[in-house]
Amino acid sequence: MMARSVVHSKSCCSAFAFRASAVETRPGRVRIPDKARDARVLVLGGTGRVGGSTALALSKLSPDLRIVVGGRNREKGDSMVATLGKNSAFAQVNIDDMVSLERALADVDLVVHTAGPFQQAQNCNVLEAAIATKTAYVDVCDDTRYALLAKSFNDKAAAANISAITTGGIYPGVSNVMAAELVRAAKDESKGEPEKLRFYYYTAGTGGAGPTILATSFLLLGEEVVAYRKGEKIKLKPYSGGLNIDFGKGIGKRDVFLLNLPEVKSAHEILGVPTVSARFGTAPFFWNWGMSAMTNLLPPEYLQDRSKVQELVRQFDPIVRVIDGIAGERVSMRVDLECSDGRHAVAIFTHRRLSVSVGYSTAAFVLAILEGSSKPGVWFPEEVRTLP
Ligand SMILES: NC(=O)c1ccc[n+]([C@@H]2O[C@H](COP(=O)([O-])OP(=O)(O)OC[C@H]3O[C@@H](n4cnc5c(N)ncnc54)[C@H](OP(=O)(O)O)[C@@H]3O)[C@@H](O)[C@H]2O)c1
Repeated sequence: MMARSVVHSKSCCSAFAFRASAVETRPGRVRIPDKARDARVLVLGGTGRVGGSTALALSKLSPDLRIVVGGRNREKGDSMVATLGKNSAFAQVNIDDMVSLERALADVDLVVHTAGPFQQAQNCNVLEAAIATKTAYVDVCDDTRYALLAKSFNDKAAAANISAITTGGIYPGVSNVMAAELVRAAKDESKGEPEKLRFYYYTAGTGGAGPTILATSFLLLGEEVVAYRKGEKIKLKPYSGGLNIDFGKGIGKRDVFLLNLPEVKSAHEILGVPTVSARFGTAPFFWNWGMSAMTNLLPPEYLQDRSKVQELVRQFDPIVRVIDGIAGERVSMRVDLECSDGRHAVAIFTHRRLSVSVGYSTAAFVLAILEGSSKPGVWFPEEVRTLP
């Protein structure tokens, strides 16, 4: 078990009080109120890596939940249902088809949306269907534009009396809660004002994720990076600004580079920190070179085109899988907060398998909603306030 930092928050992000069990290899069970114990949870993309891992984590943490695996491919769905065992079923859903979506959502209590990529998506179909059918919602979005579009449905979600969380995965997701916890601790101790917040992420290979994450990474290389310096929004080149960061035991020092990630904006606006940025690095080292070369050699318009990127993924995927077998899938998140009095606080989360920890992270957000810790509306992870 390598989960070294477990976030347990009490104030601004109490809805997401992550239990140690939520990231352990052999997790305990989570007690949720009787009325939600056998809730029906639809996991869209449940035949993929992140969705499948979320479904497995939910069934382990709360075995009475009824899990519906949603996807386009029945064969993959049946195989996932066989892994999950009793209390699970498959629903054939295409998220681009509103009729099939609303049909699938008609009979569930909460929908988890993991059917990315979220980059360059033209709408928030799943959230809109959730609001129309009064179904609670969590997504693992990792795209700034999509997250802001989701947030724009806040009033509609509140009017429909449903709770929705956007960017509720591991990073973004748990990393936002780590940042909120550092800011809360700094303010509680009144030792100066939070000034600089930096998110650093490391994942070996693709972290055992599916082809969609590869598409996500390529699409992100086509986006200018938004960061904040002393309150000013600045735009930077993707995969530039390399730093060598120490992720501690099990990971060591790794090179990380700027990427455009939604937690930068949400942390800046919600936590009120004037300087914020996010960097990511992978292994083996030549993948970092490859990402940097793609940014320099391919025009941004090419990297913003979903169909061209999907084609690129088809060509790269077999090589990536072979190298994944050697690289492993360790994941580490380090969040640094500097305050005006010179205080420097660091939070680190490390796990040997991204594909497992992303599922438990997402499941924690799902369980937070089911246990009634979140108010109606659309929320970023660091945003939900203590219920009265
Ligand atoms: N926030 C975070 O911490 C975090 C971390 C990792 C990944 N992610 C995001 O999670 C997403 C999924 O990654 P992954 O590695 O799980 O990818 P994956 O293994 O390729 O899975 C994607 C799943 O989505 C389903 N899907 C795709 N298009 C669909 C459609 N139109 N309708 C219904 N289902 C559809 C696919 O099923 P069928 O093809 O069978 O329909 C598949 O099961 C990515 O966007 C990634 O960026 C977020």
